[in-house]
Amino acid sequence: MYPNHTDLRKVLVLNPKGGSGKTTLATNLAAWYAIEGLQPALLDMDPQGSSTRWLGKRNSQAPLVHPLKGYDLPGNVTRSFALRPPPGTHRLIVDTPAGLPREELRDITRDAQRIVIPVLPSDIDIHAVTRCIADLLLVAKIPRGDRRIGIVANRVKPNTLIFRALMRFLTTLDIPVVGVLRDTQNYVRAFDQGLGIHELRGGTQDQDIAQWTDLIGWLETGHEPAEVVI
Ligand SMILES: Nc1ncnc2c1ncn2[C@@H]1O[C@H](COP(=O)(O)OP(=O)(O)O)[C@@H](O)[C@H]1O
Ligand SMILES: [Mg+2]
Repeated sequence: MYPNHTDLRKVLVLNPKGGSGKTTLATNLAAWYAIEGLQPALLDMDPQGSSTRWLGKRNSQAPLVHPLKGYDLPGNVTRSFALRPPPGTHRLIVDTPAGLPREELRDITRDAQRIVIPVLPSDIDIHAVTRCIADLLLVAKIPRGDRRIGIVANRVKPNTLIFRALMRFLTTLDIPVVGVLRDTQNYVRAFDQGLGIHELRGGTQDQDIAQWTDLIGWLETGHEPAEVVI
């Protein structure tokens, strides 16, 4: 479906604010890559272990997402050994903790082909994401021109004032909005079953699956949607 399947690409899901949707994005992405046969590994850097819990719920019959636990590492193995994706892995998805120290930003973003930032339409979150993006540009020194950073507006209720305020604000940042995901229990339902939204059956998930098209397109090809689907 996409060229360059053979090389490993790293997708980092980042936002220092808790509850913005990092784990939701990371797990759904991992499931999608698994369906596509890209043999993904999901690296959970968060000591809360939410992605690891999702992996634990995932049925062994479902397309495999290789687990990598980036916290509580056993003392007898080196970090780089424990965090190494197995041979044949085409996509590495990294789920990061809230409150990631700024000093770690540079290391963690270094070899990421894509950095996805989920942001909620709330005044507090809009404020926090400004800081996060400033840190990426100034501390991690990622040039804007790289187009490696994309924002996903998450838990959106269309036609609300705060959503419109978020979209207005995001367009001023010159960081592309590469996806909009609505607020729906389908994500909660999928998580509970160790599934991604693309694997849910018999519900109202078709609208949500359609919303992933822009984000996946940007991740895989770098194509920035002119107008995101709401
Ligand atoms: N689009 C969405 N619709 C409904 N609930 C969502 C959505 N995205 C995330 N959630 C819920 O919000 C909570 C926080 O999301 P999570 O992905 O754990 O955030 P983070 O990893 O950034 O802390 C979880 O309970 C999750 O199920
Ligand atoms: Mg999380």
